[in-house]
Amino acid sequence: MNVQEWLGKIKNKDLFVSNGFVDGKWVTAKNGATFDVIEPSTEQVLGQVANLDRNDIRRAIASADGAGRKYYKSTTAGERGALLRKWYDAILANIDDLAIILCLENGKTLAEARGEIAYAASFVGWFSEEAIRAYGDTIPSSAANTTILTWKQPVGTCAVITPWNFPAAMVTRKVAPAMAVGCAVVIKPPSETPFTSLALTKLAVEVGIPARLMQVVPTKDREAATELATNPTIKKLSFTGSTGVGKMLSKLAAGTMKKVSMELGGNAPFIVFEDADIDVAVDAAMFCKFRCSGQTCVCANRFLVHKSVAKEFTEKFVERVKGLKMGPGMDPSTTIGPLINATAVRKVKEHVYDAVRLGATIEVGGGCPEGPGYYHEPTVLSNVSTEAAVATEETFGPLAPIFTFETEEQALSMANATQFGLAGYFFSNDIRRVLRVAAALEVGMVGINTGKISAAEAPFGGIKESGVGREGSMYGMAEYQVIKSVTIGNTDR
Ligand code: SIN
Repeated sequence: MNVQEWLGKIKNKDLFVSNGFVDGKWVTAKNGATFDVIEPSTEQVLGQVANLDRNDIRRAIASADGAGRKYYKSTTAGERGALLRKWYDAILANIDDLAIILCLENGKTLAEARGEIAYAASFVGWFSEEAIRAYGDTIPSSAANTTILTWKQPVGTCAVITPWNFPAAMVTRKVAPAMAVGCAVVIKPPSETPFTSLALTKLAVEVGIPARLMQVVPTKDREAATELATNPTIKKLSFTGSTGVGKMLSKLAAGTMKKVSMELGGNAPFIVFEDADIDVAVDAAMFCKFRCSGQTCVCANRFLVHKSVAKEFTEKFVERVKGLKMGPGMDPSTTIGPLINATAVRKVKEHVYDAVRLGATIEVGGGCPEGPGYYHEPTVLSNVSTEAAVATEETFGPLAPIFTFETEEQALSMANATQFGLAGYFFSNDIRRVLRVAAALEVGMVGINTGKISAAEAPFGGIKESGVGREGSMYGMAEYQVIKSVTIGNTDR
């Protein structure tokens, strides 16, 4: 099959949109400029998307700002929630087509893509219900005859910059809470995977979300995209991506004191203690290492295994990894897809090469098949040195390096020896250890005896250089609100 045949499987062809969405209209770039989107398993062009420029982005921001102010004044929280619910229903009604689009541009398997669309919808469903829960406070005043109230108001127009590894879920995890509280959004989708965001926008507009409230500005021009971090009309910038880009955007956003949410890189430890259930740990390792071919910021990056169970864990894990079938996401027999591009493959190769040079043993995988396709075999390394690059850098690929430890103290010190602090996982059946280690891990999210920590109801976010802010959950709306303190005096007169 080639890409055109796969595209032919989309039933609602209108969902495959290649224009930007600015000021309520689907637009091309003024000079007709486009950029190519590549299907990662074949390296064929999937489609061309309008490459908008700085002026288009400025126009989108100004238009969204007007729409946002009007929307907040003219709607109740319940009405905003009801509109989100319609979007949620539409996403689920189109799950098969959206999954094909996502699979084709990202490379993850069709089953995973379907799972991501359901995950994306869950944020819209969640915030459709949270919209009505923007409670404020009444505060006892230190002055007589005075009442102090707090109101939570929308922060203003939001810029949303999303990553290619979750083309659907990272849009909805940001846009749904913003809209629930009454903000307009300008979305810059990733240039590798813009089609899913455009399809989600198409559905939002179809169900009646006011057209100018949601604007999408695809661009490959990094300079033009910085407008989203510098334009004074933007009051909030929410970004998911690398720590390097997050720091650069945060500096730019500081110029106009924007509120920011930064969901950045990770280097998750996955600790298997001697009292762990090894089969549970192996199941979790398979999910949390190879989800999206290892390209999630919460993927286990370093496996720290107690010396006494290292042999058993490694043998069972390797056996399961041997059972993975690498191939195009659209092939139903595939269980692990390609990586996003050649740069991603190179990074994994470099980490494998470096670890082996420092004495690691390749237990399974280690190579890349001849092209086409951005493939790297799922790989497990044992006897990895803590000097190896993979001990401190995020691989963002299907590489599982196994390090060993002898004491809990040593495991914690290895786990925390990184500037990142997004997720951490550990496996133990000792309740005291569970509480001790969960408290000591320097991360924003801990998975204990599970590799699955992401859900609409669970706060998502990191500490250290993994970012600031929390997405999803009962805390997610606050990222798009400001607290206004209202003091009413002389109430006796
Ligand atoms: C990410 O990798 O950016 C998000 C992963 C998730 O939501 O589980």
